[in-house]
Amino acid sequence: MSERIPLLIDTDPGVDDALALLMAFNDEAHEVVGLTIAAGNVGLGHTVRNALKLCEVSGVDVPVFAGAPAPLLHPAPDAGYVHGQDGFGDVGYPPPARQAEAEHAALAILRLSHAHAGRLLLVALGPLTNIALALKLDPTLPQRVARLVVMGGAVTGHGNITPAAEFNFYFDPEAAHLVFEAFERIELADWEATIAHGLHHDRVAAWLAADSPRARFYAGISEKTRLWSHDRRGDHWYAADALAMALALAPDGALEQAGRPLEVELAGRHARGASVVDWRREGGRADNALILLRYDQARFEGLVQAALAAG
Ligand code: BDR
Ligand code: CA
Repeated sequence: MSERIPLLIDTDPGVDDALALLMAFNDEAHEVVGLTIAAGNVGLGHTVRNALKLCEVSGVDVPVFAGAPAPLLHPAPDAGYVHGQDGFGDVGYPPPARQAEAEHAALAILRLSHAHAGRLLLVALGPLTNIALALKLDPTLPQRVARLVVMGGAVTGHGNITPAAEFNFYFDPEAAHLVFEAFERIELADWEATIAHGLHHDRVAAWLAADSPRARFYAGISEKTRLWSHDRRGDHWYAADALAMALALAPDGALEQAGRPLEVELAGRHARGASVVDWRREGGRADNALILLRYDQARFEGLVQAALAAG
């Protein structure tokens, strides 16, 4: 058996997902055993194709599994205005040569959880639909997962898609609810941690100038979203999924974390999809979320820079 930690990534690429995947591909201590693909930032056809293309550009032969095309219950919102209509900046890249595997993402999650029982690092960078489906098929899944790291939520209610909710949870609140009910301990990198760990646009531009196929491809697909972000959000670029991946790959870079009970709001006119954290532990529930508050910024930036220069 490989000494490397098996890493399964559920993702909806997405420009910041792509950066996170490059970080994972570049990590020698982890072996990416599969990419399970969610609908989210854009439709499933695009997110699957983007994952396959990124693997191809990176020279990485990881199996890609298509998952659910829509949230469990409600119609999907879209983030094409952030990531481009195809999710990868509409650069018109040639189609990937490889296809997705025949196996459904939810089934692949279960199979890989058995194959790597007790060692699997599961990282969720998109809506939690596939993991919720896997849980419905087999509620014993959490017993076999060593760590679950999730990008999602806004732990004091400063959302990014509605005033209160973050995109991944808002896209499929029921799925997020099921996952947070089922796993005893989820390491969370939320939108507010993302905002606290912005990447200065000038530094990102310098990293993207690296002489590598990965940097060149990433510079192209991220251009639109970086311009949009600069316009809307100022000097720093916020790569949510990259921060979650830093936490997953290098947990010792976390300088401050807080364990608290977290529930996902399913109803409500203003707060559907919000992550409600019981900061004062008034409800008597167990802490199910280990919330990232502060990560070593230099460590984070080092991981991003190395991922872009690699290959
Ligand atoms: C999350 O939503 C998506 O737009 C990003 O890929 C990230 O996973 C940030 O709220
Ligand atoms: Ca994502």
